[in-house]
This record gives sequence, structure tokens and C-alpha cells, in this order.
Amino acid sequence: MSLLTLLFFSSLLSLSNSTPLKPHPLPITPLPSSQQLQWQLGSMAMFLHFGPNTFTDSEWGTGKADPSVFNPAHLNATQWVQIAKDSGFSRVILTAKHHDGFCLWPSDYTDYSVKSSPWRNGTGDVVAELASAAAEAGIGLGLYLSPWDRHDEAYGKTLEYNEFYLSQMTELLTKYGEIKEVWLDGAKGEGEKDMEYYFTTWFSLIHQLQPGAVIFSDAGPDVRWIGDEAGVAGSTCWSLFNRTDAKIGDTDPLYSQQGDGFGQDWVPAECDVSIRPGWFWHALESPKPVAKLLDIYYNSVGRNCLFLLNVPPNSSGLISEQDIKVLKEFRELKNSIFANNLARKAFINSSSVRGGQFGAENVLEEGLDKYWAPEEKQKEWELYLEFRDPVSFNVLEVREPIQMGQRVASFHLEMRNVKSGKWERVVRGTTVGFKRLLRFPRCESRSLKLVVEKVRADPLISYIGIYMDKFSDSGRNSSKITITRTLQEELVLNDS
Ligand SMILES: *[C@@H]1O[C@H](CO)[C@@H](O)[C@H](O)[C@H]1NC(C)=O
Ligand SMILES: *[C@@H]1O[C@H](CO)[C@@H](O)[C@H](O)[C@H]1NC(C)=O
Ligand SMILES: *[C@@H]1O[C@H](CO)[C@@H](O)[C@H](O)[C@H]1NC(C)=O
Ligand SMILES: *[C@@H]1O[C@H](CO)[C@@H](O)[C@H](O)[C@H]1NC(C)=O
Ligand SMILES: *[C@@H]1O[C@H](CO)[C@@H](O)[C@H](O)[C@H]1NC(C)=O
Ligand SMILES: *[C@@H]1O[C@H](CO)[C@@H](O)[C@H](O)[C@H]1NC(C)=O
Repeated sequence: MSLLTLLFFSSLLSLSNSTPLKPHPLPITPLPSSQQLQWQLGSMAMFLHFGPNTFTDSEWGTGKADPSVFNPAHLNATQWVQIAKDSGFSRVILTAKHHDGFCLWPSDYTDYSVKSSPWRNGTGDVVAELASAAAEAGIGLGLYLSPWDRHDEAYGKTLEYNEFYLSQMTELLTKYGEIKEVWLDGAKGEGEKDMEYYFTTWFSLIHQLQPGAVIFSDAGPDVRWIGDEAGVAGSTCWSLFNRTDAKIGDTDPLYSQQGDGFGQDWVPAECDVSIRPGWFWHALESPKPVAKLLDIYYNSVGRNCLFLLNVPPNSSGLISEQDIKVLKEFRELKNSIFANNLARKAFINSSSVRGGQFGAENVLEEGLDKYWAPEEKQKEWELYLEFRDPVSFNVLEVREPIQMGQRVASFHLEMRNVKSGKWERVVRGTTVGFKRLLRFPRCESRSLKLVVEKVRADPLISYIGIYMDKFSDSGRNSSKITITRTLQEELVLNDS
């Protein structure tokens, strides 16, 4: 060990032995619950739409399909889970019951289920097989139980149907181990029987039975629908929201996409989209190209949301080769872009520091617990990155330690022009939240400056990334066009 290393370690030791830590600043409410934090850290989930529709080439089954159609000869939930895990998804969410009312588990409250099908001679249980595969692989399990049920006779009779629905929900939440997410929506066909869903009771019972689960719906309570089925969040996207201003089945898409900087509740958004045109598998449909998935990633995970990608198993009960191929490309592409954070090469400094353990160098460390905090009562908040040699880049990543509340309302990045030495604006953004990714035309510079403009409370920054996305930069025409559009959208929304 060299003398220098020795000195370094001894100074660290003396620091940790004798200097008490400076307290954290006060969090600003609303704050995420531990379930919401865990959900957000997962970044991506895989949706699995599967059921009689897979065999009848339909999207909204009528509820009249004969259970005999359901016969996935090679069903292998381990394959689904393996693909999800290998592709970077933290949880899988299954349509345990879709609108057609067919149950993928042998419910005691109906015969319209796997037990009336030829699959495994009527002794199978898709939920159980998926639960066991997910537990084995160490990824989370979520379940969708459609409120709209086109099969059961109780549907339309408020009390009877609520009793039926909660009995099924109880089966799902008590027989299959830990459930991480319960997914509900307000989807219902035109002219369908009118009835009331007792959402307040449902939510209470779900939280009672599975305290670790987040509940997804248009209005939360824990995570909200983004308001489209394209996987795209608003370029301003708060996790703050007023639950009372949203109604399940009748939300204002703009409110869902942007959230509410004055919102009283923490209800972050989940961006659902299918890898194929339909939600269920259809022989004649193909998955989206990888460029499209990357685009959605930037517009969901890169806008403070969770990316929920539907990958529907086929009628053999397996995820199709074509989808596996695109998912593999997607994983490799993401790794190639985000594995190399150029900011790690920079010397980092800031306009001010709260002191203690809150130095600017924290923004190069992953994890929420280490972050830069400026001195209190400042009017300017800037982080500087100085490189020895000029770097080329076209992506900026910024993260806030959201356990302290969401704070930043607008920010921009500047760079010093290599030739003129003048500071130039690279890109501007509004909200940050858990993670913000911004793309822009390729830049080159040795000096960068992240300027926080507007805040709800002193800004705290937990991570900064500077990347070169060669794929988006490579002259591939289709992705070029998309990037230009995203950038313009950014500018338009921010100038308004
Ligand atoms: C199920 O899929 C897994 C993962 O792909 C594989 O290892 C296993 O052999 C498959 N099981 C069967 C019965 O095909
Ligand atoms: C299903 O039942 C038939 C006839 O009783 C039997 O031959 C077959 O082995 C059974 N298959 C399974 C998977 O249990
Ligand atoms: C959300 O609630 C807060 C506090 O009551 C209020 O100030 C804000 O205007 C509400 N947002 C909307 C869109 O009504
Ligand atoms: C389903 O996907 C598997 C690949 O995982 C493939 O072998 C099988 O042929 C597919 N089934 C159908 C009906 O396309
Ligand atoms: C870092 O920034 C502070 C405050 O702006 C300044 O006083 C200090 O000299 C800077 N440190 C270095 C090494 O540039
Ligand atoms: C891009 O478009 C131009 C004409 O619009 C075409 O000549 C060129 O081959 C395209 N490049 C790629 C990589 O597709």
C-alpha cells in the first residue's frame, strides 16, 4: 500500500470516527410509500395478456367462448419469467381474468375457468405456475382482475357482483404468495349494463390482504394510468396528483400524463403499451421494431414513469421467437447506451454545498441515499462538470432522491463551446423525478453546467448521466425523425 493510499484511508477513518453526519434536509410532502418506492426502482414490468382471446383471435372476448378453446399445449411460465428477467423487467403482471370473465385459475366462484378447459385435463392453474416461476426467479408478481365481466350473470347487479368480484380477488391474494401489484381499469363496452363498483372497499381489502402491493388504476390509489395505451408520458410528469380529481374509467388524459405540481397525493404513473398492435397474441401480428421500444423507454422511464410492456404468450403457451428477438435487441441496445456514463470522467463541483456528506460528487453514485444538496436559501443551483478532454454526447440523465419528495420544476443544461468558449444552452426540461432522460443532437464540449431553474423546495440531485446514444445518432432515418419530434415537443411544452 502506497503512502498516499494509506493517508487516504486514514483520513476516511478519522472522518467517519469523529465527525457526526449533518442531518438530511426536510423532505417535502407528499412522499412515496415504501411500496411505491420499490415499484419505481423496478423501472420496467412485463404485462402478459393471455386467455381464450389468444385462441379465438379476439381482443375483447364476448364471454361466450367455449372453455374448450383454451388449450396451450406447451405452456411454460418459466419461459415467460426467464425472458422477462433477462430483458430487465422487475415484475410480471398477468391477466388473471380479462373482460370475457374466463379465469386463468380454478376459481371456486365460477366454472368459467381453466378447470372447464382441456388444458392439463382441467387440473391446471396458470396463476399458480406463474407465481411459482416468478418466486423461483426472484421477480415480482402482479395480477389483473378485470372489473368488467362479460360472462358472469351477477354482472350488472351491484351488490351481487361486488361480492363476487371481492371473493375472486380474495382467492388471488391469499393463495399465491406475495403479490406486488393489483391492476384494475375502468374499461367497459358501450351500452354495457350500468352498475357501481365499490372501489373504496376493494382498495381497503387489497391493502389488507397484500400490504406490499401497489394498486394501479386511472386514479391510483398507489400508481396511476398514464392515460394513453402508447406508453408515452407527458414531457412534464409529476408523481404528485390529486386522487379526488381523477375518476376510474373517466380520466382527463392530460392530467394523467402530466400529474399535478400542486397535487396532494403521491401517485406516480405507469405507461402501458403492447409490443404488438393488439394486447392478445394474433398469428398475423408482429412485434414493434427495437427503435420504437427505445423511443418508448425514453418517453416513459425517461419521464419519471414505469414502463409496462405487454408481451402476449402465443397459443402454444409460449412467448414467440420474434418477440424474444426484439427484447434481446432492446436489452443490448439499452446496455450499450447506458453502461458508459461519460460523466464519471468529469471533475464535479457545484455552486454551493449543504456541507457534510452532501457534496456534488454524490451525483456519480447510483442509489437514492447519496445526493447533492446545495446550501440553504440560495437563488442559484448549479452543478459543474469539467472534463480533461472534450466529450461527445447526445443524452442527459438526471435523477432526484424521490424519498425526499419531488422538487425540480425546471432545469437546463449548458455547455461551453469548444471553439468560441461561450456558454450555450443544450436542452431544457421541466420535471425530473426518479429519472429524467433527454435526447438532443450530438454535442461536444469539455465544460458542462446543469442549472436548476425552478423548484418546490431546495433541489436535491442523486444522479447525473451523460451518454452517447449511437443508435439514435447513427443516421437511421426513422429514429432520427423521432428524436427531432421529441426534441421539438420538449421545446414547445417548455416554452408554453
Ligand atoms: C421451460 O422454459 C425454461 C426456460 O426457457 C426451460 O429451461 C425449460 O426446459 C422449459 N420447460 C419445458 C418443460 O419445456
Ligand atoms: C388426461 O386424461 C387422459 C384420459 O383420462 C389421459 O390419458 C391423459 O394422460 C391425461 N393427461 C394429463 C396431462 O393428465
Ligand atoms: C390539487 O389539490 C391542491 C390542494 O387542494 C390544489 O391546490 C390544486 O389546485 C389541485 N389541483 C387541481 C388540478 O385541481
Ligand atoms: C409460440 O412460440 C414458440 C417459441 O417460443 C414457438 O416454438 C411456437 O411455434 C409458437 N406457437 C405458435 C402457435 O406460433
Ligand atoms: C468548487 O466550487 C466552489 C463554490 O463555487 C468554489 O469555491 C471552489 O473553489 C470550487 N472548487 C474547485 C476545486 O474548483
Ligand atoms: C435515409 O433516407 C435517404 C433518403 O431519404 C436514403 O437515401 C438513405 O438510404 C436512408 N438511410 C437509411 C440508413 O435508411
